[in-house]
Amino acid sequence: MATQKIQIFDTTLRDGEQVPGCKLNQQEKLVIARQLEALGVDVIEAGFPVSSPGDFAAVAAIAAQTKDATVCGLTRAVENDIRVAADALRQARRPRIHTGIGTSDLHVQQKLRTTREDVLARAVAAVKLAKSFVEDVEFYAEDAGRTDNEFLARVCEAAIAAGATVLNIPDTTGYCLPHEYGAKIKYLADNVRGIERATLSTHCHNDLGLATANSIAGVSNGARQIECTINGVGERAGNTALEEVVMIVRQHPGLGLHTNVRTQLLTETSALVSHLMSMTVQANKAIVGANAFAHSSGIHQDGVIKCRETYEIIDPKEVGAVDSSIVLTARSGRAALAYRLQKLGYHLERPALNAAYASFLQLADRQREVIDDDLHLLAIEVRNVAEAVNA
Ligand code: KIV
Ligand code: ZN
Repeated sequence: MATQKIQIFDTTLRDGEQVPGCKLNQQEKLVIARQLEALGVDVIEAGFPVSSPGDFAAVAAIAAQTKDATVCGLTRAVENDIRVAADALRQARRPRIHTGIGTSDLHVQQKLRTTREDVLARAVAAVKLAKSFVEDVEFYAEDAGRTDNEFLARVCEAAIAAGATVLNIPDTTGYCLPHEYGAKIKYLADNVRGIERATLSTHCHNDLGLATANSIAGVSNGARQIECTINGVGERAGNTALEEVVMIVRQHPGLGLHTNVRTQLLTETSALVSHLMSMTVQANKAIVGANAFAHSSGIHQDGVIKCRETYEIIDPKEVGAVDSSIVLTARSGRAALAYRLQKLGYHLERPALNAAYASFLQLADRQREVIDDDLHLLAIEVRNVAEAVNA
């Protein structure tokens, strides 16, 4: 069955880098951008050029270095932002300006202190100006998640008429439920005049832990681009995690979608970003956490040793992880102990295994995990006892 392509728009270097303590220098940004290109993302949002001379220089350097991916710079719907972004992107083979403005009543009235009509006019002017510099213009309706759908549709329609090629519908505050966000995308797909000339994009934040679910609801209802970051880094609780949406699309052929991401590079990309941003990945993080393919309870270990698929829906090799691991704790059974001993070259018959297991349980109760060094000692002890008995 032919599947439809989902563009992966990575914003690790823009939304991700806004996180306190995650600041990267230019060299580090170039290293991550190179890795993102190798990973196969379609768009690299390299930064917010007007925000600082350092960010301008980093966007310009990434634009010059990048061969295949589109390089994107963020702006507000402000003339100087757009001119500066266009300048930073001058050397990009595929430049994109990402401009926009708040559209929810909260943003219009409380943040911008203006009217809907003024916001509409500013949106159109920003897209037109961006279009005078680059062909590829993405428009974002900030806080679209809490924006009234009819007004949102009017703004989107006007942005397309002004030349926008991509419409970003951010759930800026991570407020939407998946069925609401999906319905919003469907409403726009069904009601915006000219929508066939533009790509709808999701940009979901994770304040309620729903960023990934909302992004998938978005693409299930007509969006064809997902904005995301490696390890889900980003403002507050973060953005949609790239590795999660990519693997969901891959593991669920029924969605009828695909991405161009080389999934075998996910684990190393995650480690690189974590290291350079000094941001630890939680051990139980989906896809890339240290425990994502680790099994520690006896029942699960027994199943995985007999057939990996009993407790794993992804082959660790597909995401570049070393292998499934059988972690030995006080909850492990004989099958797991025998398996790990065998990997170290010890093949114990039943009586010896029973003796080893009794010693193992005592050790496991004293320490969190039993590691290879402990197993060597355990095997030697069992062998010595057996030799003494037979002597
Ligand atoms: O979350 C958001 O609304 C954003 C926009 C600037 C695209 O990051
Ligand atoms: Zn954001």
